[in-house]
Amino acid sequence: MDSKHSLKNPERNRIVSEAMEQIRAVMDSGPSLDNLEKGKALLIELAAREDLFNFEAFPLPDDDAMECSYLIHECDDGSYALYVNSGAPHQYYAPHDHGNAWAIIAGVNGRERHQLYLRKSDDPDDLLLVRKGEVVVAPGEAVTMQPDGIHEVNAMDDRPLLHLHLYAKNFVLQGYRWKYDFDSGAAERFHLDELGSITDAR
Ligand SMILES: [Fe+2]
Repeated sequence: MDSKHSLKNPERNRIVSEAMEQIRAVMDSGPSLDNLEKGKALLIELAAREDLFNFEAFPLPDDDAMECSYLIHECDDGSYALYVNSGAPHQYYAPHDHGNAWAIIAGVNGRERHQLYLRKSDDPDDLLLVRKGEVVVAPGEAVTMQPDGIHEVNAMDDRPLLHLHLYAKNFVLQGYRWKYDFDSGAAERFHLDELGSITDAR
């Protein structure tokens, strides 16, 4: 790969590390709604750096994949994992959780609709969901999810997306996730490795 187009960027790493230190200072005491709101404001601030986060630095899929994920930060223990996702205009994800990880997703480029759900009951055999609302993630906007949060994601506007995805722990540590069918109440477990590759861009 031409070094001019290297995925590594020490200056970006420095700025990301500084932002993540601030976010950790908030989120280390837990994913309360209040903490998630503060973390969200900080991630929106970082996402405003379009000079760092753009399709030149984080290319879209060159095949029919829905998105490319680039890891740009995580702690040594795999916590506080931050990814840049470059998503194709047809991106769609059925309702799913994140393996008990809280999440903050902030927009850099393009809009996507997040429909939010929770499981209807604590009974592990009851896989029905209840709708909890909807958030449009766009530049200057973000969505937060607590560890039991479930979302369904639709790209909007028929144009590509670039967003920052921050999770309490990286995709590997999230392990198996649940994917739901809202109407039937059916659900299946899946592992993120089945969704395609993740590029280390630190
Ligand atoms: Fe998700």
